[in-house]
Amino acid sequence: MKVIYRIAPPVTNRELNALFADAWPNHRRRNLEPMLRKALIYVCAHEGKRLVGFAKVISDGGVHGFLLDPTVAPDRRRRGIGRKLVEACAREARRRRIEWLHVDFEPRLAKFYLACGFSSTRAALRNLKQSR
Ligand SMILES: CC(C)(COP(=O)(O)OP(=O)(O)OC[C@H]1O[C@@H](n2cnc3c(N)ncnc32)[C@H](O)[C@@H]1OP(=O)(O)O)[C@@H](O)C(=O)NCCC(=O)NCCS
Repeated sequence: MKVIYRIAPPVTNRELNALFADAWPNHRRRNLEPMLRKALIYVCAHEGKRLVGFAKVISDGGVHGFLLDPTVAPDRRRRGIGRKLVEACAREARRRRIEWLHVDFEPRLAKFYLACGFSSTRAALRNLKQSR
């Protein structure tokens, strides 16, 4: 079945939580509407009526965008859906005058992000819940 990519389509909490619960082992079901409202861009991939992928970009209000949550349903991976979601985010971000798209990821996903056009740079991440 053809996969359709749309910017900011209507999407329910139930659909998003179901996708995240399948894809992220530690996902806790919650109200995701505030996250959608605050995103500069979000993209959904649907196969028929089923939500099979999601990604979003948040922004500093200037030229920087941060790609978060690229997610593809486990049974739909390695078919190019993740790459197309990221490309849709990048295209829409460019249209909105974002110049730099940032992402951070675990080393096992380096190949995916290279395939999506990112080049590696030094970056760091601090967990504010665990460190004081
Ligand atoms: C990461 C994720 C979004 C990739 O989605 P996907 O639809 O499988 O990715 P694509 O099919 O577009 O992959 C494009 C290329 O990236 C690389 N790639 C994708 N997943 C990979 C993996 N797990 N390990 C190594 N390379 C990978 C491959 O080169 C692939 O091309 P190929 O299949 O022709 O070899 C998906 O695995 C996922 O939802 N993971 C769980 C959530 C997650 O960790 N998200 C990232 C947060 S930083």
